[in-house]
Amino acid sequence: MEQYIIKGGNPLVGEVEIAGAKNAALGILAAAIMTDETVTIDNLPDVNDINVLLEAIEGIGASVQKLDRHTVRINGSTIQNLSIDYDYIKKIRASYYLLGALLGKYKKAEVALPGGCNIGSRPIDQHLKGFRALGADVEIEHGSIMAEAEHLRGNHLYFDVVSVGATINVMMAAALAEGTTILENVAKEPHVVDVANFLNSMGANIKGAGTDVIRIKGVSRLHKSSYSIIPDQIEAGTFMFAAAATHGDVTVMNVIPKHLEATTAKLVEIGCEVEEFDDAVRVIAKKRLGHTQIKTLPYPGFPTDMQPQMGVLLSLSRGTSTITESIFENRFKYLDELKRMGALSKVEGNSATIEGVEGFSGARVSAPDLRAGAALCIAGLAAEGITIVDDIVYIQRGYERFEEKLRSLGGLIERVESEKDIQKFTLKVS
Ligand code: UD1
Repeated sequence: MEQYIIKGGNPLVGEVEIAGAKNAALGILAAAIMTDETVTIDNLPDVNDINVLLEAIEGIGASVQKLDRHTVRINGSTIQNLSIDYDYIKKIRASYYLLGALLGKYKKAEVALPGGCNIGSRPIDQHLKGFRALGADVEIEHGSIMAEAEHLRGNHLYFDVVSVGATINVMMAAALAEGTTILENVAKEPHVVDVANFLNSMGANIKGAGTDVIRIKGVSRLHKSSYSIIPDQIEAGTFMFAAAATHGDVTVMNVIPKHLEATTAKLVEIGCEVEEFDDAVRVIAKKRLGHTQIKTLPYPGFPTDMQPQMGVLLSLSRGTSTITESIFENRFKYLDELKRMGALSKVEGNSATIEGVEGFSGARVSAPDLRAGAALCIAGLAAEGITIVDDIVYIQRGYERFEEKLRSLGGLIERVESEKDIQKFTLKVS
């Protein structure tokens, strides 16, 4: 089993390039099969989640051609199988985007029902409510969602909760429905907008993505397109927090600063210097930072996917901070791991109270999920001594060349597989 080994204490300094947004790419790849013409997608992050979804797409008969590490050409004209099995859903929940994509295109789809995951129970009732509103029969049988419609017809739908997944899934199906669909109380995340822009580049007629209401005029077919995915705001934020936690000076390149506003505002509030450029953000943290209150909210609020990275930073900051997690019910597991490094926190319900400590001491910890795993690496980079992070397979799902990028900023981090590798690293850094 691979692990990260980290020798903390070096401030991260330099420039780092951010990859394409994983969560936008997941929606866009699913949407790419909705035309029988060829689609080329660029700025794709080279991470495990994306590669698994590409396998699922190939598995139903579409042609998938990787042109280089970040570019793929997809042709959905050869799809024969409208069913996505449990193996894919188990590895990557977002395979459920193929439900909206296949239902829109073929008016029929079967996708294994995703279970809960490490951060919460994650129901998908709003996705199903949306497909039903478009006129599909949706049943759950033998662990699978079966959706089928004679015709999909536009409708007016109000989502009960703001959901990124439901917004994207239902928007895809509605793009090829008859008539107009109005979706209210939708998610406004940049990746929702990116999927809408991609669908529009294929000939869909979607307006209002990025606001609370999306209006979709169904079209009868979609056509070829070439599209470049937006930068990953969560990867960008992760490096911004890594700079802050190590008292470093990092310029995060290839970003859209507007997408990072909630993160930037909190960093400034606790005492970081943040400079914004057209497509870069520089974070400088010269001194120990201060405390604050955080509440995770749908975009443009503070993202739940940045909550663990913020928790690590606040654990090292002066005073008492509180974090309220209002999106997922089980996203504080990393605080227990962090206690092994000397952090002080108490979790009650969906709130955590954090008492800042002067520093962490390196320890062996385990990544509970993708973002929490990245956060623990940040903790290791800021800690005194050696930290070993287990279960890094989670981190590899969503961060491209994570350790290489951190190394390029002066971080002492390596991916190791054996006791011998660990000894080699320890000797090298001692
Ligand atoms: C997406 C992101 C994930 C991020 C999350 C919130 C992807 C692949 N994943 O996840 O990284 O943490 O947005 O920004 O883009 N809910 C329901 N019923 C539904 C759907 C959702 O009750 O049918 C609830 C969820 O349990 C959660 C909240 O709505 O409490 C938001 O979830 P949602 O926005 O759907 O998250 P995902 O799309 O799964």
